Amino acid sequence: MSNTTKAFRGEILHFLSDPAKDNEQSYQYFEDGVLVVKDGLVETVGLANDILPTLADDVVVKQHDNGLLMPGFVDTHIHYPQTEIIGSYGEQLLEWLETYTFPTESQFGDTYFAKPRAQFFLDQLLTNGTTTALVFGTVHPESVDAFFTQAEELNVRMICGKVMMDRNAPDNLTDTAESSYEESKALIEKWHGKGRLHYAVTPRFAPTSTSEQLHKAGQLLEEYPGVFMHTHLSENKNECAWVSDLFPECENYLDVYDKHGLLSKRSVFAHGIHLCDSEYQRLSDTDSSLSYCPTSNLFLGSGLFNLKKAEEFNVDVGLGTDVGGGTSFSQLQTLNEAYKIQQLRGEKLTALKSFYLATLGGASALDLDDKIGNFTPGKEADFIVLDYKSTDLMRVRMNNTKDILERLFVLTTLGDDRTVRETYVMGDLAHDRNNKKTSAL
Ligand code: GUN
Ligand code: ZN
Repeated sequence: MSNTTKAFRGEILHFLSDPAKDNEQSYQYFEDGVLVVKDGLVETVGLANDILPTLADDVVVKQHDNGLLMPGFVDTHIHYPQTEIIGSYGEQLLEWLETYTFPTESQFGDTYFAKPRAQFFLDQLLTNGTTTALVFGTVHPESVDAFFTQAEELNVRMICGKVMMDRNAPDNLTDTAESSYEESKALIEKWHGKGRLHYAVTPRFAPTSTSEQLHKAGQLLEEYPGVFMHTHLSENKNECAWVSDLFPECENYLDVYDKHGLLSKRSVFAHGIHLCDSEYQRLSDTDSSLSYCPTSNLFLGSGLFNLKKAEEFNVDVGLGTDVGGGTSFSQLQTLNEAYKIQQLRGEKLTALKSFYLATLGGASALDLDDKIGNFTPGKEADFIVLDYKSTDLMRVRMNNTKDILERLFVLTTLGDDRTVRETYVMGDLAHDRNNKKTSAL
């Protein structure tokens, strides 16, 4: 991080609250704006006419034309070891796990295998404008070490955890309640709170953990306040039926996690498609969050996420790519599918709500909205520059838009990694689309 003041001028958008609640008051948009960053943190944001005269003579102002500057994207659910199985054909969740996921994950106990893959994964995130993510490793502590080592080098705010899985998985991918506790504990001690890194206690999902292991997960959360909890919930109908067979004493799927002390404001549940009202209510009461993973939910045929219900019950929702069940690292492509899912439900996902979900909404879902997610003074200056002319088709379509709302919607419909011109981490350039080396992997 450079200890200087820098200024970035262009079209700027960021959110102050949820547009579904506050509509016009929920965002700030400056057609000709300036973002001022000092020592990696946001100093101020506003109209160029107001801010430029206040800057010292030696402050360099970088101009961004034909684009939109906004906070970096937040991905609230993704698996780094699944990068290489994106687009694996033909199965729904449980068979997909057996056929594709478990074999690929079994390789991550080898640091030499894991390291370049962690590097490639983090590079993909930045290439797609994602500056913070909640990330699954594998059952191997080595996978998490490889991930955090690289994330620390890039100075990105990242959350990761070792999978806890002590049944219903291949032998080479299972731990035990005790070993998962000890290994997670050692990783928490080593990485949680180091620089911008956080640890997430990560039981894979109810079917692959015994009650004893889930108790151990709860114990870790009690022993280490501030640590995250990350798992899957109610994604697929067969999975839900399996959970009710495995835990007959529990009232519903969420109750399995609840009975083991796994619900809190730093708990993130991926999917949550097939929930009943009392589950939404309990998520809301405990300030737990859901991660909406549209490309995955369509690709694996899991179902249509009920965003309206989550809003009605006041449940925090972030957006997840869920790579490799999901089919893209791009939050723009994820929003493209998010819109279509709501269409199939007879609901409208507005462009404002979409970009809220991808930025401040995700930060709130992760309980990190005091640090990232918008340009409030003092926040960490992770931001991106989106290019309105990133493809010929987008350029031509943008010529036929009349305001920022229409442009935002076109960004989600036609945008992808080509649309992310630059990504900044704490005010420093971390990805430049026009000066990119080819990946070594
Ligand atoms: N449920 C349990 N494990 C997984 C996984 O790896 N991906 C998805 N999408 N769902 C899961
Ligand atoms: Zn997942």
